[in-house]
Amino acid sequence: MKNGGIWPDSKGVHINAHGGSLLEHEGVWYWYGENKGPGWEGRLAQVGVQAYRSRDLRNWENCGAALAVSDDPASPICRGQRIERPKVIFCRKTGKFVMYFHSANDDHSRADMGVAVSDTPEGPFQLLYVERPDRDVWPLDVSHQDKDPGIISRTPLWQDKHDAEWRFHLGKYGAVGQNFHTGQDARDQTLFVDDDEKAYHIYASEGNSTMHIALLTDDYLHHSGVYTRAFKGRWQEAPIVFKHNGVYCMMNSGCYGWLPCPAHGARAEKMFGPWFEFENPCRGRDPETGSGPGTTFNCQGACAFAVNGKQYVMLDRWNMKDFIDSRYVWLPVEFHADGTFSIEWTSECRPVEEGAGEEIGH
Ligand code: DGJ
Repeated sequence: MKNGGIWPDSKGVHINAHGGSLLEHEGVWYWYGENKGPGWEGRLAQVGVQAYRSRDLRNWENCGAALAVSDDPASPICRGQRIERPKVIFCRKTGKFVMYFHSANDDHSRADMGVAVSDTPEGPFQLLYVERPDRDVWPLDVSHQDKDPGIISRTPLWQDKHDAEWRFHLGKYGAVGQNFHTGQDARDQTLFVDDDEKAYHIYASEGNSTMHIALLTDDYLHHSGVYTRAFKGRWQEAPIVFKHNGVYCMMNSGCYGWLPCPAHGARAEKMFGPWFEFENPCRGRDPETGSGPGTTFNCQGACAFAVNGKQYVMLDRWNMKDFIDSRYVWLPVEFHADGTFSIEWTSECRPVEEGAGEEIGH
């Protein structure tokens, strides 16, 4: 599997699981992601969340739609809506597989989180709900300014987002007060399960100006009502989270839709922060495309995964002209003594050596 190349599944078809996540369960790897269609239209969900499975992270068998789109026009996951960045975690306490995804309409004015659950990793996942989280709940780090009715009444709406004043206002004051009674907007997102089995939902909010970090309930099915904010007014999305030697690490993109841009690295002693940003963690260059750190190798982050203690990231190389032809890049993560990490380009990434696994069902 060459980074940025065609990655065929066991039937020879390029894997269709973008903005995805990887989960290992009982010796089998599962890859969940957005099933994209052809052309620019392919950004809209026609199938749902696709699942694949593998024993060696190289031979992938298509398991079909883990979460299928609905034919009901009233459903938030109706065909033609957006189902993005699906992440799946396993809850040891309940024995269930829990999927969170970003549920939106085409202009992103709807900014919900969706939660689905399944008894088996392949699914089918049952949709539990789609909503804006933390309605009538203030974050841990709420300030007087956040609650100031004068500021809240002057907070421009997402619909006015092309206005420079919107950007200035959200960058400076945020929108947690404006969203207090409606629930917080939830866009690009990921999940992280800590060593103590506590799980967190990390998502771009407040018009994408600020990242929210929410502790989940013990069954992982809901926000617990305890959440905080990180990177206030820093306009970051596509979060990837992992942990190394007790240090929490995050890599985010800037807010440019599907266009590539430099990544931001960050670290924290605690999941709820404070988070410290550091320089772009990307190093090196893809000789084929000439892309390097300035464009995250012409990619955007999808998820983190660890194999035999070694940390990797999966990136999406989006093709906005033909979404179904978007590609994948897997890169190893290197950790440094000062608590930072870096991600160096390599043309091929093999977390598991050849012959170490076998195809499922063989
Ligand atoms: C920003 C995200 O990072 C992209 O992956 C994609 O979801 C776009 N939003 C859609 O507008």
